[in-house]
Amino acid sequence: MILSNLRTVESTLLYRTRRVTATYFSSFNSTYTSKPCNFCRKRSSLAQVKFETEKQHIRRVSKNVKRYRTLHCTDVSKDHVGSEQLFSGWVKYVRNLGKSSFGFLVLTDHTGDLQFVLRDQNKSDHQKDSFSNVITPDGFLWSDVTAQSAMTIRGMVLNRPATDVNREMESGAFEVLINEVLFCNSSAPVPFNIYKPQSLVREDIRLQYRYLDLRRQEMQKVLRFRSSVMHKMRRVLVEKLFFTEIETPTLFRSSPGGAKEFLVPSQQPDHYFALTQSPQQLKQLLMVGMVDRYFQFAKCYRDESQFSDRQLEFTQLDLEVSFESKEFIQDVIERIIWETWPSEISIQPRIPFKRMSYDEVFSNYGTDKPDLRYEDIKLMKVPSDLLRKLNNPVLDQHLNAGYGGHGLLIKNGQKMTRASVKKNVQIIEKELRWMVSVVNIGQNGRWHHHPFQKAENETVDDLNLLFKSEEGDILFLCCGPEDLVCTMLGRVRANMIENLREVSKFYRRNERDFRFLWVEDFPLFERRVDNDKEMWVASHHPFTAPRQDDMEFLESDPSKVRGQHFDLVLNGNEIAGGSMRISDSKVQQKILGDILKLDCSNFQYLIDALSYGAPVHGGIAIGLDRYFAMILGKKSIRDVIAFPKSNKTGACLMSDAPSRIELGGYGADFTFKI
Ligand code: AMO
Repeated sequence: MILSNLRTVESTLLYRTRRVTATYFSSFNSTYTSKPCNFCRKRSSLAQVKFETEKQHIRRVSKNVKRYRTLHCTDVSKDHVGSEQLFSGWVKYVRNLGKSSFGFLVLTDHTGDLQFVLRDQNKSDHQKDSFSNVITPDGFLWSDVTAQSAMTIRGMVLNRPATDVNREMESGAFEVLINEVLFCNSSAPVPFNIYKPQSLVREDIRLQYRYLDLRRQEMQKVLRFRSSVMHKMRRVLVEKLFFTEIETPTLFRSSPGGAKEFLVPSQQPDHYFALTQSPQQLKQLLMVGMVDRYFQFAKCYRDESQFSDRQLEFTQLDLEVSFESKEFIQDVIERIIWETWPSEISIQPRIPFKRMSYDEVFSNYGTDKPDLRYEDIKLMKVPSDLLRKLNNPVLDQHLNAGYGGHGLLIKNGQKMTRASVKKNVQIIEKELRWMVSVVNIGQNGRWHHHPFQKAENETVDDLNLLFKSEEGDILFLCCGPEDLVCTMLGRVRANMIENLREVSKFYRRNERDFRFLWVEDFPLFERRVDNDKEMWVASHHPFTAPRQDDMEFLESDPSKVRGQHFDLVLNGNEIAGGSMRISDSKVQQKILGDILKLDCSNFQYLIDALSYGAPVHGGIAIGLDRYFAMILGKKSIRDVIAFPKSNKTGACLMSDAPSRIELGGYGADFTFKI
């Protein structure tokens, strides 16, 4: 009980501290009407923190201590005209300084830009490098003011002359006459133009000099957006849903069977920690420890290939609850998303989110993460007798082997050139080692460029009718093992949609239309062949509970067992995964040892813990990097992470990590050699 209370106090204090620092980024508006929880009410003395806006904060602090700033660049208003203020930021442009008796510079901070002017009536030619009416630090010269120098300036806010008002600049009606330069740390020439559009600068250069890249307003917006949404999420979880925030260790025991882990040498020879792939087991242990509702913004580490939506190290909003159902967890996630939905995105997602079974999405879309903005483009089963009438020997061979067929009609598919359709299909065929037939639909439903020359006209008409095909469409047909056929056509579908978006209006969708979907009832296991050995692997992770009604197949036919697993998909991306967990230690042991053939000694502490009265429990984790990338319309999660690893090598291009280290006798007497 004491430990439990301590955790709650720790979580509340942690939350309060963060709330003070994060509140000025928060746009959580005054309509937020949650009542304080019982805990807050009881301890109201802890809550005596006065909240203020960023502007008020800066003003108040500046009265008491030495400050470098009384206003941010875009906070100047007509109320400040004639007053002296302090500004700090980075030099965006500098013009004519030191060369004439008039000069200006544009200073930028995270709010935007502001113009500063220098006027020196007394300046003569030989004073090229100084302005006599500006007090500057010792040894400071105006030639030191290079682009990207950091500066603090004291100056008088003025209205710009009407003819000089810059309407494209938020602070364009004002300028500041420089009275004093309090600080100037000049910048070396920068390796790339920070103000060029992102797409025009090579990503590896931006990552190498990420600290400069972060000075771009777009990156500033992203970081502040992330902070603000995470702050709101924490608030909803703590204040409205009564979750407790708990930090779990990231140095933990290796647990083989999931993604490849990062191992960390310890002081004991040949003994390693593993960085946690997620806090999965730890959060389950918290449930055994009577925590009830846990959450954490958790760092996860997985040594896997890099893609635009994957990083070696990423962040999850991780949560777990006991004595609650799958529907409760889904409801919590819907509430978090709904309540923290950014006001900038006009279309608020509708809750509850749509739900579909894995079987349904896979047979309709050939993927477990369909983009519901293209809900109507579906795969369709084709009756075998129709396929037989196509009189194609390869097709007949597959039909004779007992396989069925599926088709996919892509409207306006011929807007893509035949060569590029062929190339895309060939890539998929090569990867999945199976064949897809392509038919171009011509005038009056005639078929062109297809492998069914012996097909009867009547069969062609029947298939056109079945798929409602029209001139300009493409029909893809595939016959074989159902899983493979759906995967093939699913890949073709995704590929065609992706390409047609560029060339056909029919495929353009509102990028700000966010369609969430719960996919449920995944198969609990997948059959995998490794080194010619067939084995079962967990589709999600080995702690997911089987569906009660499938328990009977656990021993007889594991392929038939569905798990109590649910993924959240957003516009074709998996953004969260969760499940109800196994709470019976015997079932857990059977799945780990007998079915997955894993060494149970690696999980003994968890199996033991479950044997001490584990509650019904379950949870979920949102991949925050993916979620933010999606709602901010970014192509890659690297664009929403302050210091991401490179896409190509997984290295940190800025620090050149990982770096070579001579370990020289790692063990108890290990010492660093620097
Ligand atoms: P899962 O492995 O499905 O579940 O991960 C949850 C979510 O995390 C995100 N994600 C990633 N994001 C960036 N880079 C990666 N390499 C990466 N891998 C995963 C995805 C994914 O949906 N412990 C379980 C959760 C649970 O069952 O409670 C887990 O980690 O958005």
